Amino acid sequence: TGLAASAGAFLTTRRAAVAQPSEVLAAFPDKFVWGASTSSYQIEGAVTAGGRGPSVWDTFSHSFGKVANGDTGDVACDHYNRYAEDVDLMAKAGMNAYRFSVAWPRVQPTGTGPANAEGLDFYDRLTDALLAKGIAPWPCLYHWDLPQALQDRGGWTNRDIAGWFTDYAQLVAARIGDRAKHWTMLNEPSVHAIFGHGLGGHAPGMTGKGNYFKAIHHQNLAQGMALKALRAAGGAKGWQLGTVLSLQPVWPVGGLDANYAASLMWDAVWNRACLDPLLRGEYPELLRDGFAPLVKAGDLEAIRQPIDFLGINYYSRMHQQPDPAGLFGTGYGSPPEGTPTTGMGWPVEPDGIAEILIELKQEYGNPPVYVMENGAAYPEQTGPKGFVQDNDRISYLRRHILAGHQALEEGVDLRGWFVWSLLDNFEWAEGYQRRFGLIEVDRQTLERRPKASYHWYADVIRKKGVPT
Ligand code: NOJ
Repeated sequence: TGLAASAGAFLTTRRAAVAQPSEVLAAFPDKFVWGASTSSYQIEGAVTAGGRGPSVWDTFSHSFGKVANGDTGDVACDHYNRYAEDVDLMAKAGMNAYRFSVAWPRVQPTGTGPANAEGLDFYDRLTDALLAKGIAPWPCLYHWDLPQALQDRGGWTNRDIAGWFTDYAQLVAARIGDRAKHWTMLNEPSVHAIFGHGLGGHAPGMTGKGNYFKAIHHQNLAQGMALKALRAAGGAKGWQLGTVLSLQPVWPVGGLDANYAASLMWDAVWNRACLDPLLRGEYPELLRDGFAPLVKAGDLEAIRQPIDFLGINYYSRMHQQPDPAGLFGTGYGSPPEGTPTTGMGWPVEPDGIAEILIELKQEYGNPPVYVMENGAAYPEQTGPKGFVQDNDRISYLRRHILAGHQALEEGVDLRGWFVWSLLDNFEWAEGYQRRFGLIEVDRQTLERRPKASYHWYADVIRKKGVPT
């Protein structure tokens, strides 16, 4: 069919654009940003402290059978109380930036209305602690922990949320925006829509295509309105504004013609449903019928806001094939034979990050980009005296940073790298068993123990590049 033929040509071009990462020492620019990322519900704990209201993840994790081993974020890494120690560890690694998220239910316990000063106090203390150590705070305004009270009003399926989010964003920015300069609006809106609203495996546990479309469109709209409001408020403050998208190249299983249509569909659902309206002002054609009833006059203009940078999260390619049981008639299949996988079962494909970066350059106007998440969970390899000698993670990070460097050499405007994650933390429906941290967190004592990868990353930062 025409679709399969054009998809074939498209994939050939994409493959040709991807160069193999070189194994030589890769030097990064002096002003390159090196940091780590976390999110509020995954690390903070202290879920009732300082007047915090419940979030959808509190509700979800306390519902039987939703999270592996019945884990919850009640304690998490207790970062709320131990943030100073964590900031210290970042500083010792030489990081010059830290991306964290602000918990909406700390700031507005029921989602709307005046700010809860005590909730904002925490981010105020954190911001000061970071700056005192020379680490730039990079707040992300939303990483999936919606106030439960807003979910009770429909959450992301209710169009009013665009206004609620904009009000909330302004409250946070008014409090720490004199010191925090780099702002991201949302984290992985497509993943939140797919898993939280389409498939139900994440909070709030909604299902169906209809809820997927609403969650995407209303997040896009909220992001656009908040960007516009902060742009108006932050001009004089020198704010740099962006958002964080999960961008994973989608390939047809086996490179087969029969799988092209499925790969294009999942690419639209996962990547382009958020990327295209933001950077091109349009929804991908394959999904237009689904969005049509939701898109009101002026929406696409409201979503297409200028951004100062794009944050991207990359973990692996996704290999798709038809699956009638899938949300959009597609499903995951095997990566090319011989591709290793992480402890999450995700293929390790470092050239996929170069592929996505080069595509942003060639097809989306080469926006300034920060990799705001990249990392891996593995069954930990423990060395003498319980030291985590995580060679697998080091190899994963090394290969991805080298691939990022390759993209940089090809003219991609890549400006920084944030490892996911600083600490072992609450990996959503997988609970604490999946560990992404550079730093181990003892689940009994909450003691922090830097792993070998932490020391390796500190060396990368010190050398401003990857040692051979
Ligand atoms: C993306 C999400 O933003 C983050 O919350 C999650 O822990 C990592 N990926 C790993 O799955």
